Amino acid sequence: MLNLQVIVASTRPGRLGPLVAAWFYGYAREHGKFDAELVDLAAVALPLYDEPKHPRFGQYEHAHTQAWSAIVDRADAFVFVTPEYNFSPPPSLVNALDYLSREWAYKPVGFVSYGGVSGGTRGVQVTKQIVTALKMMPIPEAVAIPFFQQYIDRDSDTFDPGEVQAKAGGVMLDELLKWATALKPLRS
Ligand SMILES: Cc1cc2nc3c(=O)[nH]c(=O)nc-3n(C[C@H](O)[C@H](O)[C@H](O)COP(=O)(O)O)c2cc1C
Repeated sequence: MLNLQVIVASTRPGRLGPLVAAWFYGYAREHGKFDAELVDLAAVALPLYDEPKHPRFGQYEHAHTQAWSAIVDRADAFVFVTPEYNFSPPPSLVNALDYLSREWAYKPVGFVSYGGVSGGTRGVQVTKQIVTALKMMPIPEAVAIPFFQQYIDRDSDTFDPGEVQAKAGGVMLDELLKWATALKPLRS
């Protein structure tokens, strides 16, 4: 089974991203067509980019980069669970992308975005430009959740945006699987 990493992009104290990611991760496991893995950038804890050599050489000086490289390397596809900050990706996501090169290449990425009226989509559009420089394939099928805070149950600390968004998630995962399967031979 191909590996899907659901990546929690926000790292700030008090962040809501983990609630959104827990919902989608649960859904991805139910979907059952990927070996789904939850990756939290706060736990990965990368400092601001600090490698002396360009990542395309893969010669990483720091243990944190080597650890991050090993995580991303084993993925066949990604879903970035991300807010937008000032109509852009959170700096934690851009930083995590910049750290590596070959590990991202020829892998598809879908987005679960959340925010106010835009549902985080402006930040996703900017992220798509960045990931294409890394030879990733950002897919158009997506989950975008406007005014996402209304779907948080404060008592149970869970998030559920409902059937329509779950259905969009299924369409995205099916499409990610097609791309992940097609792109895998390019990496050998
Ligand atoms: C620095 C900053 C910038 C933000 N900019 C936007 C924005 O451009 N659009 C938006 O819909 N929400 C914006 N927000 C509100 C976020 O959608 C909201 O804080 C959300 O909880 C952020 O995700 P997180 O809690 O997982 O970090 C911003 C929040 C922060 C902290």
